[in-house]
Amino acid sequence: MWTVELGRTGVRLPNLALGTWNIRDPAAMRETIRAAVDLGVFHIDTAEIYPGAEEIVGHAIRGIRDRVFLTTKVAPQHATYTGTLAACEASLRRLGTDFVDLYLLHWLERDTPLEETLRAFRTLIEQGKVRFAGVSNFSVRELQRAQELFRPYALVNDQVEYNLTNRRIERDLLPYCREAGITVSGYSPFWEGRIPRRSPRWRGVERIAARHGRSPYSIVLNFLARQRDIVLIFKTERVEHLQENIAALDFMLDPEDIAWMEANFAP
Ligand SMILES: NC(=O)c1ccc[n+]([C@@H]2O[C@H](COP(=O)([O-])OP(=O)(O)OC[C@H]3O[C@@H](n4cnc5c(N)ncnc54)[C@H](OP(=O)(O)O)[C@@H]3O)[C@@H](O)[C@H]2O)c1
Repeated sequence: MWTVELGRTGVRLPNLALGTWNIRDPAAMRETIRAAVDLGVFHIDTAEIYPGAEEIVGHAIRGIRDRVFLTTKVAPQHATYTGTLAACEASLRRLGTDFVDLYLLHWLERDTPLEETLRAFRTLIEQGKVRFAGVSNFSVRELQRAQELFRPYALVNDQVEYNLTNRRIERDLLPYCREAGITVSGYSPFWEGRIPRRSPRWRGVERIAARHGRSPYSIVLNFLARQRDIVLIFKTERVEHLQENIAALDFMLDPEDIAWMEANFAP
């Protein structure tokens, strides 16, 4: 693991973050969150729309809030000015904290009043309830418009899907964000757990994994982390998977492995 600067804030985050969507076992998730913080994965990603997740995170970080970097998100259906302020207040209550570190608009919908959402983000920053603001699932063009509207404040993050079969951000979003000083976070590195196990390409990943004595999940993370300035957000509620995912960045793929991955999972 290594650290990545959040936008141009000077704040450094681990390049692995723990997600909280689709929690099956709250007690196991709480244990995994606490283990993650202890192991240096102190960035926890959640959202108001993840069922039960903010409460579970809030419970898990009780007593260790000061060691955690917390990201949560407002849903577009709440994203009017007053709606965003109220949504943030409700998230803070569920999370049991006075502030979130990073607050994102979860995605853009046609009727999302973006000017209002961003005005609310400014208010929340001024009130000290939010440290930094960003967006999620925004294209370059949407991001540019949002940046324009948010000036003189800066959006510091765009959280987008990034996995072996969806590497399109490498073509446009990532180069743009590097120039603009915006950190990209990549979510669902393991396709939300829906691994395409029967595909010949996945068998190829398994072969590479076997040669390195690693799991195929480790090969996926190691390969994606070659974009060294991306934050990769995976979800697990098992401490052994958390440990495995952290260890996944400790080794080097061989040039021929990389060439095979590039040929079979082209952006
Ligand atoms: N902004 C957005 O619109 C958006 C959208 C989707 C996701 N996200 C964020 O990104 C996070 C991660 O994405 P995701 O939840 O979609 O899925 P993911 O991280 O791609 O996959 C999670 C699945 O992988 C399994 N897993 C993780 N590590 C493993 C390992 N080493 N070995 C075997 N299985 C492993 C987990 O099972 P176990 O729990 O059993 O380990 C779980 O079933 C979310 O939780 C959320 O915080 C954001």
